[in-house]
Amino acid sequence: VNQTVAPGGPLRGELAVPGDKSISHRALLFGALAKGTTGITGLGPGGDVKSTMACLKAMGADIEVHLVRKQTLVAVKGKGMRAFAQPSAALDCGNSGTSMRLLMGILSGQDFSAKLTGDASLKRRPMARVADPLTKMGAAIKLSKGGKAPVTVKGGALRGIEFVSPVASAQLKSAVLLAGLFADGATTVTEPARSRDHTEWMLRHFRLPVSRRALTVSTEGVKGFAAQPVRVPGDASSAAFWVVAATLVPGSELTIPELNANPTRTAYLSLLERMGAQLERKPWEEGIIGATEPVMDLVVRSSSLKACDVSEDEVPGLIDEIPILALAATQAEGTSRFRGLAELRVKESDRLSAIAKILTQLGAEAKVEGDDLVVSGPAPLKGRALDSLHDHRLAMTGAIAGLLAKGQTTIKHAECADISYPGFFDELKSVRS
Ligand code: S3P
Repeated sequence: VNQTVAPGGPLRGELAVPGDKSISHRALLFGALAKGTTGITGLGPGGDVKSTMACLKAMGADIEVHLVRKQTLVAVKGKGMRAFAQPSAALDCGNSGTSMRLLMGILSGQDFSAKLTGDASLKRRPMARVADPLTKMGAAIKLSKGGKAPVTVKGGALRGIEFVSPVASAQLKSAVLLAGLFADGATTVTEPARSRDHTEWMLRHFRLPVSRRALTVSTEGVKGFAAQPVRVPGDASSAAFWVVAATLVPGSELTIPELNANPTRTAYLSLLERMGAQLERKPWEEGIIGATEPVMDLVVRSSSLKACDVSEDEVPGLIDEIPILALAATQAEGTSRFRGLAELRVKESDRLSAIAKILTQLGAEAKVEGDDLVVSGPAPLKGRALDSLHDHRLAMTGAIAGLLAKGQTTIKHAECADISYPGFFDELKSVRS
């Protein structure tokens, strides 16, 4: 499906974003492993979260979804850590790297073997980085050619390990920590830089062992744990599109309520502030039932930006926002450099070359130098047809570019936005009227 976006007026009023995708995956997974009913409100509606739900159901998990007063209530009726049944067919993770990698961790602790597969994009992404530590813990894992999916995991008796991760990846860290819950003794993961820490928050929320020292996180094997209510806040990465749009379109004043305020996800807000953005954070009081992490309302007012220099260490905290930040950089005064973006090459698409290409097509100055992305601005953008490469974040970045560009911008395969943000294009129309 193509979507056409025309330049638009200010973004004003209040706009609530979908439930956080990362927290949603974890709420479902922890709920399915717990004993008792985990009630979840605010679950992310996207295709990736649906993939996790479908995989858990295929292993016998009892998950009910109710729509009450326009709100989705999810009841995950957990039966304990080892109560899954062997699935009768391959588990389809769709486009979702988080589903596949976190499930690899959980399957490592089961007493059956299961195959995980996904769409063409997921089958291109690296899985050996996850299989390596899980194998050391005692799982038997078969990868497809080149260390890719489909992946078959045969669980076994696991032992805790001290894993020094070669990449800052929350999916990799989380897979190992989840397997650690099934292992004998302690499991620790040390990362080269801080990646998002939702698994750590979720472990704490479910009263499971977790501790951190600098870049090292530890957990321990347990026999079981009890269900907890979970309230999922708005997704910071989904909000990023509106934050950049409201910053760049003059006269905007947009409020985003109940947004995740976890610092490992909101680093892009601090970066935009460094560039000159006017953001007002209004933290919520503690005590929201089921909240696993800090939450805030965010007010964005339009302002002009200057260029940024992003260091390699900052990148894990900005990983999903780089495309929209690169678009912001096209409108900032000066030359911006985003350093050390190698991980972007193995996302839902090769986002590093794709974003440089899209920005160039729009008439901006953007180039890849080694693993760096260099963008100069401010540049007037010219609307045209853009290929999203079936990558949700590229589709939405292209759409926001369309608000700023002269003429019309068409996004090809725009339906892929549903992976994280169903209703994005409707919201884009309504926020401007
Ligand atoms: C995620 C971690 C990130 C991110 C992805 C979701 C998660 O991937 O890009 O969208 O929920 O743990 P990596 O940890 O592999 O960088």
